[in-house]
Amino acid sequence: MKKVLITGSSGFLGQNLLKLAPRNTQIIAHYCQTIPENPGSKLELFQADFRTGHWEFIQKLRPDIIIHTAAMADIDECESHPVPARKINFETTCRLSDLARSLGSRFIFISSDVVFEGNRGHYKEEDKPCPLNVYARTKSEAERYILDNPSNMVVIRPALFYGSALDSRPSFSEIMFRRLRSGQNIHAFTDQYRTPVLVKDLANAIWELVHHDYCGLLHVGGPQRFNRYEMGLVLCWIFNLDSSLLIPVKSSDVQMNAPRPLDCSLDSSRAAGILKTHFSDFEEGCRLAFSEN
Ligand SMILES: NC(=O)c1ccc[n+]([C@@H]2O[C@H](COP(=O)([O-])OP(=O)(O)OC[C@H]3O[C@@H](n4cnc5c(N)ncnc54)[C@H](OP(=O)(O)O)[C@@H]3O)[C@@H](O)[C@H]2O)c1
Repeated sequence: MKKVLITGSSGFLGQNLLKLAPRNTQIIAHYCQTIPENPGSKLELFQADFRTGHWEFIQKLRPDIIIHTAAMADIDECESHPVPARKINFETTCRLSDLARSLGSRFIFISSDVVFEGNRGHYKEEDKPCPLNVYARTKSEAERYILDNPSNMVVIRPALFYGSALDSRPSFSEIMFRRLRSGQNIHAFTDQYRTPVLVKDLANAIWELVHHDYCGLLHVGGPQRFNRYEMGLVLCWIFNLDSSLLIPVKSSDVQMNAPRPLDCSLDSSRAAGILKTHFSDFEEGCRLAFSEN
């Protein structure tokens, strides 16, 4: 039975990876502050704060595969706290990839679509990153480190993901859905474009990649390009909610710590070509994610 270490298993993506883990897998579930829900008996918990190192323990765990999702993932927090952001997002990723290489383990790193400048969108794997903020820089430098030392490694650039965060903090799409359903206003950007991917589809794609021989960069986004205002309109249309609760805003109307790329939509045709995982369109994904809520 393969032993898989999931870092950040208490997060939005990590929780979905735990839920969708194949039966014949032994999981070591890493967390920092939040003990993840335990969905099965073949699960060993592992606490570590990557601000203070702690990578060496992973050597003793000897995983066959490492899925590295843990990150300081709040873009504005990274901008205000660049030192821990670099320690967690860049240094930890480098050290974990070194460990994976020394153990002969497969390493799957979760990067981000925001490594691009965002001036044209439809980015392919061949396009050059041009990070605009601290978070994107830490991710882009970690990608570079991994790709410059190639071995059994995959760097996934997911698009913005949506759906149920299970026992983690509610995702942006859950917050939007809950506010609209309870008749509360919500501000939504009209000028920041992404290719949102259902978190369950992303988790299924990662599990498929665990047993795949693909190595290198891979864009994993959904099939449609939307801004958040348009996502809100789709939610209103599907669930018969009041779309006048959506307040359109532009990036320039809102004061934020970190600059954001405007259009970091991804071309995910390579992933669609090599993976069997089905990628839901946004309407189908929202119906799957929110119909039971
Ligand atoms: N959310 C998106 O739409 C999106 C889009 C593109 C890429 N990504 C990337 O995808 C990955 C997963 O994102 P997510 O939304 O699932 O993130 P998340 O919900 O914020 O979860 C972050 C995870 O990292 C762990 N973590 C945070 N600080 C840590 C530290 N100092 N030491 C060790 N672990 C620490 C957290 O542990 P505790 O909760 O236990 O403290 C949590 O398990 C991240 O790498 C993110 O950059 C996210």
